[in-house]
Amino acid sequence: MKKKISPSVMCADFFEFEKSIRTFEANNIDLLHIDIMDGGFVPNYTLGTDFVKALKRKTNIPLDIHLMIERPENKLDWFEFGENDYVSVHYESTPHIHKALTAIKGRGAKSMVALNPGTPINVIENLLDDIDAVLVMTVNPGFAGQRLVGSTLKKIKRLREYLDKEGYENIEIEVDGNVSFENAKLMREAGASIFVAGTSSVFSKEATIDENIDKLNKILE
Ligand code: DX5
Ligand code: ZN
Repeated sequence: MKKKISPSVMCADFFEFEKSIRTFEANNIDLLHIDIMDGGFVPNYTLGTDFVKALKRKTNIPLDIHLMIERPENKLDWFEFGENDYVSVHYESTPHIHKALTAIKGRGAKSMVALNPGTPINVIENLLDDIDAVLVMTVNPGFAGQRLVGSTLKKIKRLREYLDKEGYENIEIEVDGNVSFENAKLMREAGASIFVAGTSSVFSKEATIDENIDKLNKILE
C-alpha cells in the first residue's frame, strides 16, 4: 500500500509555522496530522477548532485530524473537514463509536478508529465496513516526545494480517507516537502505511525539515 507521511503539527516550531507548511508543500507531503486534545480524554490541551479552520485556508494539504476528545460524535460540527481529510476518533472515547465513525463518513471524510496501546484489535470487528483506516497508537496519547510502547509492533502486524484475512486489504494502518527513523522501518515492515512524523523524525533537531523528510522517504521506500 502506498505510504503516506503525516507530520504532527503540534511538534512544529509555531514561530516558523508558515515556513514549515510551505516546506511540506514543496516536499509533496501527503497529510498534516492535527492533534486535538480536550484535557479530559487525555491530560493535555493542544490545537483547537479555529486552528483547523485557519489551516484549511492556508494550505491544500489534506488534514489528518486526530480527535483525542470525549464523546467526539457530538462535536464533529465544531471542525471543518472534507472529502480528502482523515478524521480519527478513539474507540475508548465514546460508547457510540459506530455512530461517530458513520458521522465522519456522512460528512464525506475518511473515517479512522484510533486504538490506545492497551486496547485489543478485536474491538473493531463490527466496524470494518465503516472505516477507511485504523490508527494504532504506538505511545499512550497526550504528549509528543514519548518512547514507543514495544508491544505495538506485534499489534500492527497482527492487525494487518487480520484485515487482509477478512478481505479488508484497503483499510490503511496509521501509526502515531515515536515514529523515529528506526521505528518507522519496523512499523513499515509490520504493515503500517500512514506515518505520523513528530519530534523523533521530521521535526528532529538533528537536521532541517527538508533533510528529515528526505531521510524518512528513503527509509519508507
Ligand atoms: C501524541 C500525539 C502524537 C505526537 C507524536 O498523543 O498523538 O501525534 O504528536 O509526537 P512524537 O512523534 O514526538 O511521539
Ligand atoms: Zn496524534
